[in-house]
Amino acid sequence: MESKFTLGMIGLGTMGRNLLLNMADKGFAVTGYDKDPKMIQKLKEDGAKHNLTAYSSLEDFIGSLELPRRIMLLVPAGPIVDSVILELLPLLDKGDIIIDSGNSHFTDTSKRAAELSGQGMHFFGMGISGGEEGARFGPSIMPGGDKTAYGEMKEILEAVSAKVNGDPCVAYIGPGASGHFVKMVHNGIEYAMMQLLAEAYDIMKNALEYSNEQIHDVFEQWNNGRLQSFLLEVTKDIFAFKDEKTGGYLVDYIKDEAKSKGTGKWTSQVSMDLQLPIPSINEAVSTRDLSKFKSLRTALAKTYTQDKYTVGDKDKFIVELEQALYFAVISSYAQGLHLLWQASITYEYELNLHEIAQIWRGGCIIRAEFLEDIYQAYKKQPDLEHLYADAGIAKKLEEILPGMRSVVSHTVLTGLAVPAFASALTYFDSLKTERMPSNLIQAQRDFFGAHQFERTDAEGTFHALWNPVKS
Ligand code: 6PG
Repeated sequence: MESKFTLGMIGLGTMGRNLLLNMADKGFAVTGYDKDPKMIQKLKEDGAKHNLTAYSSLEDFIGSLELPRRIMLLVPAGPIVDSVILELLPLLDKGDIIIDSGNSHFTDTSKRAAELSGQGMHFFGMGISGGEEGARFGPSIMPGGDKTAYGEMKEILEAVSAKVNGDPCVAYIGPGASGHFVKMVHNGIEYAMMQLLAEAYDIMKNALEYSNEQIHDVFEQWNNGRLQSFLLEVTKDIFAFKDEKTGGYLVDYIKDEAKSKGTGKWTSQVSMDLQLPIPSINEAVSTRDLSKFKSLRTALAKTYTQDKYTVGDKDKFIVELEQALYFAVISSYAQGLHLLWQASITYEYELNLHEIAQIWRGGCIIRAEFLEDIYQAYKKQPDLEHLYADAGIAKKLEEILPGMRSVVSHTVLTGLAVPAFASALTYFDSLKTERMPSNLIQAQRDFFGAHQFERTDAEGTFHALWNPVKS
């Protein structure tokens, strides 16, 4: 069969199909493969005007691709990726490129890349963010792995990605599994932002006793300012959406038990492995898990007194809440980027944090107005260890810190749970503490376990005979 297609997509579910349609829109000759005939039919229908075709035979699909073959996988993460690769291998030639575009765990990507490069294939893990709409009209793309293979993909990826001020929201992330690592951290930040917005809603609903219409209006107003972001935009729209069944607002009829697919948890797990704290992301992950204990929560709600929250000056409080949200959101980005900074060192990913901020400015779920400031901070100082250390960011945070403290202290005092807000504040307070009480932790460890400690006034490690103090 004559080779003709520049790229082939395996997995024609919504994401794969939309990305393929996006590529066809940009004039690339592309095709697809899926085991499910319904998916093939759907692609042919949606892609009728592009004359898009798809195959149900893997051999025909492979035979239809130009050399080196560019094969993109958009199949569920996990063992399915391995089984697709296994089926593909006997049909491929050395130099072919396999791109895994699902939310695979970065350690799986490292293993697959090593195995495939041993067989002369190029493999790279690529994060794609933006959901269905993004895939169709411009996602943010995070490809990592073999740089030569990226060269073969660059033109297509730049064409289909979202654009901000004309710049494509895609860049070569780095070697190894760095693309999937960065996408995982993107999702960790996504979890934190979603949790913060949920807490802001809870505060408005239960502390300020705002109606859904009022909450919608506040979110809309915030979204017209410095907090402008995709997630805030989505959230505001949720508060205007009516339920067909009841005529009320749908949000009020949705169970308060949050689900997840794992990328947030992976971010937290890796942060523990790297000993790099990301407490607001951790809280967002844990709070989704805690929400699932509905019957326990219902029982405890009856066991304990429910505090009644009152706010005197609601107008002043809502101004402070906007400041607190801004503070906490910036802190969540700061945590995620700090994790990337550490991963870059540990895994030798050679990450360019300003480029990552740049490609997150458009197309992805965490795209936001303030990413411009973050981008500028890292562009100015490529080796910036932490976003808090940037003078421009520090000035902004100092200005709104009183609002952040007011919101956290008021809510904590009256028993309204704000795990993500509170953790962002204590994270900030800890990081700006020159002498932490960790000296006591070291003393305790040495006391009961002879684990030794270091002194402030001498080099080396020491052990004290604490027992007399004990007696
Ligand atoms: C994106 C999203 C996408 C997906 C999340 C949802 O960037 O387009 O992050 O990857 O919506 O995986 O994750 P949870 O199901 O864990 O919330």
